[in-house]
Amino acid sequence: MASESATGLQLRSLIKGGGELEISLQIVPTPEPADDEVVVRVEASPINPSDLGLLTGPADLSTAKASGSKQMPVITAKVPQTAMKAMAARLDQSLPVGNEGAGVVVKTGSSEAAKALMGRTVSMIGGAMYSQYRTVKASDCLALPAGTTAAEGASWFVNPLTALGMTETMRREGHKALVHTAAASNLGQMLNKICIKDGIALVNIVRKPEQAEILRKIGAKYVVDSSSPAFMDDLTNALAETGATIAFDAIGGGKLASQILTCMEVAINRDAKVYSRYGSSVHKQVYIYGSLDPGPLELTRAFGMIWGVGGWLLTPFLMKISAADRQRLRERVASELKTTFASHYTKVVSLAEVLDPSNLAVYARRATGEKFLIDPHKAG
Ligand SMILES: NC(=O)c1ccc[n+]([C@@H]2O[C@H](COP(=O)([O-])OP(=O)(O)OC[C@H]3O[C@@H](n4cnc5c(N)ncnc54)[C@H](OP(=O)(O)O)[C@@H]3O)[C@@H](O)[C@H]2O)c1
Repeated sequence: MASESATGLQLRSLIKGGGELEISLQIVPTPEPADDEVVVRVEASPINPSDLGLLTGPADLSTAKASGSKQMPVITAKVPQTAMKAMAARLDQSLPVGNEGAGVVVKTGSSEAAKALMGRTVSMIGGAMYSQYRTVKASDCLALPAGTTAAEGASWFVNPLTALGMTETMRREGHKALVHTAAASNLGQMLNKICIKDGIALVNIVRKPEQAEILRKIGAKYVVDSSSPAFMDDLTNALAETGATIAFDAIGGGKLASQILTCMEVAINRDAKVYSRYGSSVHKQVYIYGSLDPGPLELTRAFGMIWGVGGWLLTPFLMKISAADRQRLRERVASELKTTFASHYTKVVSLAEVLDPSNLAVYARRATGEKFLIDPHKAG
């Protein structure tokens, strides 16, 4: 008799050459585990902005239409013609979604490392987590401490390691304090807890007073609101006080990166004894690590000549650091999963409910405190 894990539901995202997004569910076979692999019954996987990049891509969700049945729903939406060129590499391929998740190991390969995980609740990375079962390498799993649920361990990789990667990058590149944007995000709250614990000054940039309130409640000292008329002055004062010369910007498009560099330069020059027409000699860096605003980045160069704007991505960062450092970061996440790295979800949904237009309208907004968790085995 075939085991229960032999097949399972999987969520797929497809962009057709004709300019249509289609999100659907399929029943797929679960690959047999190789020696160094395990089969995990996925019980929890978050919907993060990076997942939305694949799940809905650049589709115009105001055109979304639901069809199919209650058990096997389908969502379609139009992809604007202007975005189709950038989609060339994924056209007409039905792609599984979901970067990270957690669940229980129900079958293993023959290696000792794989067998040691049998029956354990593990967090894992490797894509296609919006599935009922996943076959993954044992080395891509993190066995969770006793008493930790799959829901508590689901967001163990993307946001925690990115937040830790920011403080690591700060130190490695010789900066002493940090700036972070969209700072009331799930990741931003983790970063505040890390910085408070590690004694790092952090300048948080938010866009609404209630977001400033969320951060102050968890102990943030420097919070500036980009919607305030005093924003540039407030930011400059916070930069002068902290000495922050590196920023991580999740927004990307618009003027914010430029404003940060400008305020850094003004803050640095406050103490300058002599004038230089080339600006200060202090390196100022903005790393763009998200695309919350997909529009063009506008730089008005009022910050001298010693600066950099670049992209920052977790996986290449992890590849660049040593195996020992990777292990150190993973162990910190495991030991602080219920405190520093705790994620909060507004709703737990089944795979079919991910395709409910009323849910799509909420989680696709990427709004503060509105993160969804998928339980692929939830009924409905
Ligand atoms: N590069 C990497 O390797 C990497 C890894 C992990 C995460 N990330 C990025 O980290 C960011 C945060 O992820 P998360 O899971 O923590 O997000 P989240 O909890 O879903 O929060 C998103 C935040 O962004 C704000 N926001 C949305 N659109 C915005 C815009 N156009 N301008 C300013 N603020 C905006 C929201 O505020 P409102 O309520 O005001 O909309 C909310 O506070 C995402 O951009 C994600 O892609 C990157």
